[in-house]
Amino acid sequence: MSPEREPVGVIGVGWVGLVTAVCFAELGHEVVARDIVPEKVESLARGETTIHEPGLEEMLRRNAERITFTTEMSELLDRARLLFVCVDTPPTYSGDADLSRVRTVVQELPEDSEHVLIMKSTVPAGTGHSIRRDRAGLPYVSCPEFLKEGTAVKDFMNPDRVVVGADAGDEGAAAAVAALYEPLGGEILHTDVASAEMIKLASNAFLATKISFINEIANVCEEVGADVGEVAAGMGLDARIGSSFLRAGIGYGGSCFPKDVSALKMLAGNTGYHFQLLTAVIEVNELQKRRVVSKLQKHLGSLIGKRIALLGLAFKPDTDDMREASSLVLAARLQGEGAEVVAYDPVAAGRAGEMLDSVEMAASALAALDGADAAVLVTEWGEFATLDWNDVAARMARPLIVDGRNFLDPKALAEAGFEYEGIGKTAIDAPAPAANG
Ligand code: UDX
Repeated sequence: MSPEREPVGVIGVGWVGLVTAVCFAELGHEVVARDIVPEKVESLARGETTIHEPGLEEMLRRNAERITFTTEMSELLDRARLLFVCVDTPPTYSGDADLSRVRTVVQELPEDSEHVLIMKSTVPAGTGHSIRRDRAGLPYVSCPEFLKEGTAVKDFMNPDRVVVGADAGDEGAAAAVAALYEPLGGEILHTDVASAEMIKLASNAFLATKISFINEIANVCEEVGADVGEVAAGMGLDARIGSSFLRAGIGYGGSCFPKDVSALKMLAGNTGYHFQLLTAVIEVNELQKRRVVSKLQKHLGSLIGKRIALLGLAFKPDTDDMREASSLVLAARLQGEGAEVVAYDPVAAGRAGEMLDSVEMAASALAALDGADAAVLVTEWGEFATLDWNDVAARMARPLIVDGRNFLDPKALAEAGFEYEGIGKTAIDAPAPAANG
């Protein structure tokens, strides 16, 4: 068997694990994917994905013959040597990453195992060393994940870089992992284990810092009459800065940034180092979503009894993921001010409904906007760009919108009679009533 066609094992078929399993199958590998949740395994075996990720379900069905989904660890261990660990590491109450699922997986490997443990789960730097201490002789590679939700299949197939971290003695294991990714053509960076772990945490923390930075710039832009879109465009033309992750808005969410920024801050704190910058990054992000409330109050005064429509709930478009979504805090803040909250999301409404049980879920954007005193664009779903804003203005009790992602065209909205508030740009107030004759 050629090394690039070596069978691949995947432990934990959440979002990272499923994308990894399906994409390796697409590259021609036999894949055995194991999860402890029988319903998930059954659904995947039927070709139905458990998450919303563009292109994934079709790819799963196309490669169904090459992928086995199982609840049995023994089946995985019998059939694959290279084992990708993709279990989740959610934050605990202390803000540290919860490694209990990772530890369980390590315990499930037999003592004399010749398997290679490839850590895809995001773990604090130092985790690899502690696993290697406990399990001397177990080949260990850190291969952190950089996929973005919504474009995960594309990101997997076209990586900017693949980081392969291994310590002395595990060169063979590192070469086997690198060989799996070689057909994809991205740069493969070999490091030691601790550095690979830090690359993941530092990359996410840096991107989150960029977002909180541009959000603070946006807040200053509002005070001085500048437009953050133009400021970001001008900054981004400097190759040292780069244009990505400079979109101002109501803050970052999702399964990675909030968790990883907090985990890095706590990791530093546990060593006695106070990572001051990340403390500010987190606080700016927390406050940014709350600024929507004061923007609404500026126009409406008290929010008691006001009907506010949230357009979008997911933490970003093209996903149904509600983890750490800004909409959760925003809905609670609005309700805390006495507002009645109605919401629409084309994909995440089901998941969101379980978390926001006092929020009315509308079946369409127009249904949410009907009779509303204001709208807040929370998630930049494409369909919101094509709404007929003249029609929307006529339906709303007051055509007022806070564009939390600077997604809409303020000029077109003003022409449709809207009062408009973006993030980091000049607000458009209600047209003054025409003077009598
Ligand atoms: C992120 C990392 O990008 C990815 O490399 C890592 O593997 C997992 O975490 P993801 O959480 O899927 O990916 O989403 P991403 O597209 O990075 O966006 C994260 C959040 O930041 C979203 O809430 C998004 O709305 C927000 N964001 C992003 C901004 O507010 N402004 C930006 O300029 C970019």
